[in-house]
Amino acid sequence: MLNDRTSLLSLLESRRSGKPRELVGPGPTAEEMERILAIAARTPDHGKLAPWRFITVAGDQRDTLEAVLQEALSEENPDATAGHREKEHEFAHYSGQLVVIVSAPVPDHKIPVWEQELSCGAAGMNLLIAAHALGYVAGWVTGWRAYSEHVRNAFCEPGERIAGFIFIGHAARELEERERRPPLEAVHKSWRPRDL
Ligand SMILES: Cc1cc2nc3c(=O)[nH]c(=O)nc-3n(C[C@H](O)[C@H](O)[C@H](O)COP(=O)(O)O)c2cc1C
Repeated sequence: MLNDRTSLLSLLESRRSGKPRELVGPGPTAEEMERILAIAARTPDHGKLAPWRFITVAGDQRDTLEAVLQEALSEENPDATAGHREKEHEFAHYSGQLVVIVSAPVPDHKIPVWEQELSCGAAGMNLLIAAHALGYVAGWVTGWRAYSEHVRNAFCEPGERIAGFIFIGHAARELEERERRPPLEAVHKSWRPRDL
């Protein structure tokens, strides 16, 4: 047990994202994906509403994804250059497995939407950890595509939003640690009640 615990802790202490554009394949097998998604779905969720969805995009659907992105780009930026278009081609064809994580809050429920959205973020984090625990590298990106109505309509039902695109693959070279992590004292303090 101690060994399992130690390795879980060292995973959490060392895990870092990879840049989706730098990942190489292959992505997880179908069995591994099922495991990753089952872990992601095992996320704290006030009210047991499961206010999130995971949409996997198959390798042979990448051209269709590109078509959606190019249409969205045309709608939102009619002056898009060939360079912009090339970026959409590249994004749609990044290596590995793509999971689109969707926030699907239940409106007008006693559980506030804010809490449901927090649960979606936690599900995304669980998904990243599961992928890394299986020996993959994952990266979560949003960008304009996550906020585009056209792209949203391709993945979401009314009232849902894209929380991110998570790519899962392998790092082509050793991952560099992030430039900076917040020093603990910047994000933690012991509570000192204000004078009443
Ligand atoms: C909600 C969300 C959106 C993100 N969107 C982007 C993005 O659009 N572009 C990007 O390069 N990274 C994006 N990131 C990833 C982070 O910038 C960065 O990769 C991550 O914080 C690295 O942290 P880690 O090494 O602890 O995994 C996003 C992360 C989250 C949680």
